[in-house]
Amino acid sequence: MTIATQLEAALARADADMDQSLERLKALIRIKSISTDPAYAGECRRAAEWLAAGLREDGFEASVRDTPGHPVVVAHGRDALAPHVLFYGHYDVQPVDPLQLWNSDPFEAELREQPDGEVHIVARGSSDDKGQLMTFLEACRAWRAANGTLPVRVSILLEGEEESGGKNLPGFIGGAADELRADVALVCDTDMWDRSTPSITTMLRGLVGEEIEITCADKDLHSGMYGSAARNPNQVLAEIIASLRRPDGSVAVAGFYDEVEELPEAVAEQWRNLGFDEKAFLAGAGLTQAAGEKDRPLLQQIWSRPTCEINGMSGGYTGDGFKTVIPAKASAKISFRLVASQDPHKIREAFRAHVRERLPADCTVMFKEHGGSPAIAVPADGPYLRRALAALTDEWGKQAAITASGGSIPVAGDFKRLLGLDTLLIGFAHSDDRIHSPNEKYNLTSYHRGIRSWIRILAAFAGN
Ligand code: BES
Ligand code: MN
Ligand code: MN
Repeated sequence: MTIATQLEAALARADADMDQSLERLKALIRIKSISTDPAYAGECRRAAEWLAAGLREDGFEASVRDTPGHPVVVAHGRDALAPHVLFYGHYDVQPVDPLQLWNSDPFEAELREQPDGEVHIVARGSSDDKGQLMTFLEACRAWRAANGTLPVRVSILLEGEEESGGKNLPGFIGGAADELRADVALVCDTDMWDRSTPSITTMLRGLVGEEIEITCADKDLHSGMYGSAARNPNQVLAEIIASLRRPDGSVAVAGFYDEVEELPEAVAEQWRNLGFDEKAFLAGAGLTQAAGEKDRPLLQQIWSRPTCEINGMSGGYTGDGFKTVIPAKASAKISFRLVASQDPHKIREAFRAHVRERLPADCTVMFKEHGGSPAIAVPADGPYLRRALAALTDEWGKQAAITASGGSIPVAGDFKRLLGLDTLLIGFAHSDDRIHSPNEKYNLTSYHRGIRSWIRILAAFAGN
């Protein structure tokens, strides 16, 4: 049978099996694999075991491998010799709080029909990344059910620490390099360009996470008895935080921009041609004005420029009512998004020096590291990318876009560094999926046509 015939058979099979595909996604969603909370470690293992069992059912050799943290699932399909693709996804999810903002149980996927006819699968992980990783697994399942064997050699790596800045994956990949090395890596954890335009993401920002805790007095103090004389760590923290950004939106840490390059004009031009609607993007979040570096197009602000964001601040009394107190401690969680060849280690040290220089008498600071990974840029051309673009264009009936993203997916850098592999980042999520947020959703169309897209991509890679 020709590849074209097999492709049609696999697509028909995927369509016919959609109800079961959806049931399997719901079953995975029911497992509460919140990686950052140790209380859910058992659930993370259960997710890994559920995935490995499903892959074995689909004809893969699959196993759950222990790491010092949450386990990894590795699977191999021994169907064809070449080319060899390595697919990556993460089965862990973000915590669900604040729970009261959810309109339904975060772990019971609810199908909600929208006024425009689109159906939303609402649940934690529906989009990030369970729904997305299942598009690939279901594509393999449909292909094998229709044709007996897959058209390419497929290896699969599913991890459970992506959302918690886990440190164990690079070590695992390095240790299993011979087993994982392939011709190209595929990651399904990114967005489409818009509702009807698929996209291949070629740039991601890197990340440095830092937590700081500032201590002044040796205990909480009465703010009338000590007020004005005693140094207040909330004030110190606020001043340090305020010093991180200049009024023009740029980051004020010394040396921060040393490795940052201007976007090549050809790429800037290509991004202008995407026809991005800045106003609509901001309106989608209830905003009217971009607050990043002044005079930069918004797409550059989120895709190709580095930033510093305060993710959380706490100190003193924040409960109901009022308490006149000068707290002993104040803390904040701060992240930097990196671009180009900015070095996470160097940025972390520059930030720490910035804080120490601004620390007044009687104050001490403690730093806690929360992960670091450099930015990723993959070639915006090449044989696999061209074939994948054509396959996506066929499925969606619309030219696929080449885009970038401001989020971070550390594994793409690990694949390059440890396996010498370039990654194709292809995802079917939407910017309004509310990932990491209450009422996260994945469009049923993303799920269905995501599965169909991977089937077409497998066919396009076959025989090369
Ligand atoms: N899937 C996201 C990254 C993403 C989001 C890519 C939107 C493209 C579009 C991923 O799961 C994620 O949330 N990454 C974290 C980094 C991690 C180390 C905590 C991020 O970007 O904050
Ligand atoms: Mn993700
Ligand atoms: Mn995420």
